[in-house]
Amino acid sequence: RIEDIIAREILDSRGSPTVEVEVFLVDGTRARAAVPSGASTGSKEAVELRDGDAHRYGGKGVEKVIRNIEEIIAPDLQDLDVREQKAIDDTLIGLDGTENKSRLGANALLGVSMACARAAADYSDLPLYAYLGGPGATRLPVPCFNVLNGGVHAHWQGADFQECMLVPYGAGNFREALRWGAEIYHALQSVLLGKHLSVGIGDEGGFAPMVSSNHESYDLLLDAIRKAGFEPGRDAGIAIDPASSEFFKDGTYQLRTEKRAISSAEMVAYYEEIVRNYPVVLLEDGLAENDWESWKLLNERLGGVIELVGDDIFCTNPKIIARAMEDNIANATLIKLNQIGTVTETITATRLAQYHGWGAFVSHRSGETTDDFIADLTVALDTGHLKSGAPARGERVAKYNQLLRIEEELGTAASFAGKHAFCRPIR
Ligand code: PGA
Ligand code: ZN
Repeated sequence: RIEDIIAREILDSRGSPTVEVEVFLVDGTRARAAVPSGASTGSKEAVELRDGDAHRYGGKGVEKVIRNIEEIIAPDLQDLDVREQKAIDDTLIGLDGTENKSRLGANALLGVSMACARAAADYSDLPLYAYLGGPGATRLPVPCFNVLNGGVHAHWQGADFQECMLVPYGAGNFREALRWGAEIYHALQSVLLGKHLSVGIGDEGGFAPMVSSNHESYDLLLDAIRKAGFEPGRDAGIAIDPASSEFFKDGTYQLRTEKRAISSAEMVAYYEEIVRNYPVVLLEDGLAENDWESWKLLNERLGGVIELVGDDIFCTNPKIIARAMEDNIANATLIKLNQIGTVTETITATRLAQYHGWGAFVSHRSGETTDDFIADLTVALDTGHLKSGAPARGERVAKYNQLLRIEEELGTAASFAGKHAFCRPIR
């Protein structure tokens, strides 16, 4: 049973404040969780509450959220059985009372929800992935390494496209996939140095060079894959998250690097060309969140061949995902805990996707902490793939390192998603 819940303001990987929650059980168990924060957010995300006091952290303080947790949430959850995750999350949702979690803040709800899940796992003497996923939770995901950062994560005149990910699906297990990822990441550094391009890194640990087109990133990555001794297509492929809502303005996609603005249909043709020429396995947010109708065309053209993931457009929201299924506009959803605000709703969104043959792609945020909850979540929900940035920067590798531990602990029971990680077969 829950005895007490406390919260504190800590820093995330961008040096901005975020929420950390600690749950204490009457038997002495204590568990902790920290909440991440995005930069290219969807407009329908659950609300991340900030103090707005310009004298502290430029208005980004979370003292109000801390008070909401300690003064409103903690008294109400006292004495509840911490294993009753759904009852806890329903209580949190009820206490907040708004559709978008704006009263107490999704960052308040999620911190408590995650810390309770972890406390329940500890209390049950189970690792988190086994507690949440049961005895069948034995498959390790293919890590999608965001090795080239652009857009709002680069803070620089880099690529328009936010993320160019390396996907080592040909590896035999997770440990090997991580090694391939790191080796190719380092090869990419020397490819960039050889071309006198910047090796400064972005928010998610990837390099953020000034490129003159978006597909130049893919050429650089293919060079790096070969340089590290691997074969593009056979051993590793590419996943793309342009985060296109960020450059969709006045009804057109504004490609700064290429000095042109193109229509939705032209954008779809642009992707078709990329998919024809490169070993792309996944495209996330290819079109903007308020370009819903054009997503149908994108799905018609590419949905049969690659995984088309909705991030900003679905916001891990089961209601929006269900509508997207009816309209047949994609074949996968991104899964971000803080977009929806509780562990239970995150599981519901993932199950909804999986029951309908959709992919579910677990994701970190660009503002992260060293909390490794999503590593366990990915294995628990058997999503087959996750993205947690480059194989560099402590808050990014914290998740990958936890997956190494899980694979080790599972021993011979462990399997690796490999080429079956996606909702469409590798071409
Ligand atoms: P964000 O970016 O965490 O800044 O929203 C991640 C993504 O777009 O997938
Ligand atoms: Zn995204």
